[in-house]
Order: sequence, then C-alpha cells, then structure tokens
Amino acid sequence: MIFKLTEDQEMMQKTVKDFSDEVIAPGAAARDHHETFEKEIMWDKMAEIGLPGIPFPEEYGGTGMDNVSYALAVEELSRTCASTGVTLSAHVSLCAWPIYGFGTEEQKQKFLTPLANGEKIGAFGLTEPAAGSDAGATKTTAVLEGDNYVLNGTKIFITNGYYADIYVITAMTDKSKGLKGITAFIVEKGTPGFTFGKKEEKMGIRASATYELVFDNCKIPKENMLGKEGEGFKVAMATLDGGRIGIASQAVGIAQGAYDYALNYANTREQFGKPISAQQAIAFKLADMAMKIEASRLLTLKAAYMKDAGDKRYGLYSAMAKCFAGDTAMEVTTEAVQICGGNGYTREYPVERMMRDAKITQIYEGTNEIQRVVIAAHLGVGGRK
Ligand code: CAA
Repeated sequence: MIFKLTEDQEMMQKTVKDFSDEVIAPGAAARDHHETFEKEIMWDKMAEIGLPGIPFPEEYGGTGMDNVSYALAVEELSRTCASTGVTLSAHVSLCAWPIYGFGTEEQKQKFLTPLANGEKIGAFGLTEPAAGSDAGATKTTAVLEGDNYVLNGTKIFITNGYYADIYVITAMTDKSKGLKGITAFIVEKGTPGFTFGKKEEKMGIRASATYELVFDNCKIPKENMLGKEGEGFKVAMATLDGGRIGIASQAVGIAQGAYDYALNYANTREQFGKPISAQQAIAFKLADMAMKIEASRLLTLKAAYMKDAGDKRYGLYSAMAKCFAGDTAMEVTTEAVQICGGNGYTREYPVERMMRDAKITQIYEGTNEIQRVVIAAHLGVGGRK
C-alpha cells in the first residue's frame, strides 16, 4: 500500500486550502450569524476554480480528476466553513453524480455539463415528512399522463434548495410495488407547479440553504426519468453511498479546523505561569483529537480511493467513514470548546460555530444509527446480505 497522494491530488489539496483560507474563511462567521447563503462567494468563486466538476470527465464540463481529490476539496472547504463544504458535496455527490451514473447521453449533455462546469447548482430530494430514515416510505407521486409525469408531494430539508437549478428527486410511480415502485426524476427550477416551501432555521451549517420543495401538479417531460422506472430507490441508495464520502470529508474538515484552533489557543493561553497545553489534561485531549481526525481521514480517503478503483464495496467504507468521522467531529469540536473555555463558548471564537456545525454530520445522509444498519447489512450480520 502507498499512503501518498499523487501530484495532482496534492495540487488540488493545496489550491483548495489556500482558497478556503483566503476566500471562504473571512466571511464564515458573518454568514453563520446572518444565516445567508452568499452565492457570490460560496458558489461563483468556487466555480471559477473548477470545484463543481472535480470528479467528472472533461467531455461533460468536469475537471477530470478523481474522488480522492473531491474528498480533499470538501475537507479543505469545511475546515473554515462547513456550509460551503456541504454546498459542494450535495451538488457533486447527490445531483451531478446520479446523472453521470444513471443518466442517458442526452441527460448528461443537457444536465450534467452545466452542473459540472459550475453554471448551474444541483440538489437532491429524497426526504419527506414521513420518509426520513425510512427513505422508501415516499408519499410523493409521479403519474404518467401522455408525454409527461405529473408530480405531487413535498420534499423537506433539501440542501441547496431554492438556489439549485437542477433537482434529482424520487417519487412513487407504482405504490403496489413498494420500494420497486419508486422512480427517480430530474426536475428543473422554474417548472410550473414546482415551488419552494419554508426555509429551515438551523442550529448549524446556517449559511447552507435548506428548503422544502413543493410539487403541485408539476408536469415534467417523461425524458426526465433518471434510470429505469421502479429503480429509483436503488438510484437513491447508490447516490448516498457516494454522498457519505462527501459528508465524511466535511466532518474531517470541521474537526481539523477546530483542532487547529484549539492547539494554537492551548499553546498561547497561559494559566498558572505556563501554556495550558503544558498541562497533561489538555495535552492528552489534543493527542486524542489528532489521533481520531487522522483515523477518520484515512477511512474517508480509503472509501474515495475504492470508489475511484471501481471497488463495489465502497458503500461499506463510505458508511464507516461517515459514521466515524461524524462522531469524531462532534467529539473534537466539543473538546475544542472545552479547551478554549469561556472564550470558546462565545461567538467571537470559531469553535462554537464548528461545534454546532459538527452535529449535522451525525444526522444527514443517513443518521449514524442508519450507518450502523448499512454496515451491519454489508457484513452479513443477522443473515442480511
Ligand atoms: N445500492 C444499490 N441498491 C441498494 C443499496 C445500495 N447501496 N442499498 C440497498 N439497495 C437495494 C437492495 O439491494 C434492495 O433491493 P432488492 O430488493 O432488489 O434486493 C432494496 O434496495 C431495498 O434495500 P433494503 O431492504 O436494505 O431497504 P430498507 O427499506 O431496509 O432501507 C436503509 C435501507 C439503509 C435504512 C435506507 O432506507 C437508508 O439509507 N435510509 C437513510 C436515508 C438517508 O440516508 N437519507 C438521507 C437524505 S439525503 C440528505 O441528507 C442530503 C443532505 O441534506 C445533504
């Protein structure tokens, strides 16, 4: 095994690290405070350096790089602003990727190309009020009428909602078939009958836009069906296999940002006549934090590497990575606040925001309890395989 990034991957890491420090970091606290998705910074600037298309071929407007590079980019963005990290992750993993993986050549030309070149933003609509962890309990319906499917229903908690131009969504086309009656579709913003409901006010990732999607007799051309009729649940599950690499990367980035800040604070803050890092209680916290971040990063990059290598078991590793990195992000950010003490608890210090941001990585793209269900199923626990 060679634990070394390629020259291209190192270059991507360095480019996004500098971009994150210089362009993304300065407004992160204000965006969080005012709960604003600052498109000019969080999307337009990112598109200028090609991030929306990292893992897609150049023929479809992409950068022609790999999933390891993509994971590194999401980590570096999330190190200073987790909202920017998830904006990229939802776009790449949850919208552009299923179109690349399941779309027809026409769909790739029409939808993937503007997504990958950053002209358009993507989103994914799976979750509904009664279909969260039980993603197959979808109530949204799609009925074929002539050359169109007519959509009715509501999707909730949709990352990039309202700002996205292209949405991959799931809907029930044949209720009698259960999970095999679910189909995936591509819906464009502006389609009559497709509107936005409430904007969520959140604990963390407050600069990331989260909206309800409302479909009220929304007619979309039947050519917008993604994959085959009845295969929408599999499309969604396969999409989440990759999406979890993005969320794991986001969690690693949040944890690294909090650790960097806490380390510097501990080395400079003096109490009892010496830096607090000279106290074993603090030094051991920092050692544990660094150790768990590194383990999370290795698991995340392994999942990305396996995806690049075409190894079908990458879904097991992406679930492990998302679960472990999410739990690590929560633990590390909580300890970072503890190390910074009263200062860390105030909005003047970024670790407070990072701790709030970390929480969502244990919840979305499948709660960490669901990741354990996925992991156990892969392992054949209880005879499931
Ligand atoms: N790839 C392809 N097919 C898959 C699959 C995968 N990864 N996982 C399951 N399937 C197939 C199975 O093979 C099975 O097909 P067959 O009947 O032909 O064998 C079918 O799907 C049903 O599988 P299960 O019996 O395992 O399905 P289940 O109903 O028990 O649910 C679950 C499984 C893992 C709990 C699933 O519902 C799940 O992942 N839930 C969590 C949902 C989730 O992650 N939501 C996130 C929303 S998106 C989001 O959060 C985005 C954001 O904000 C950024």
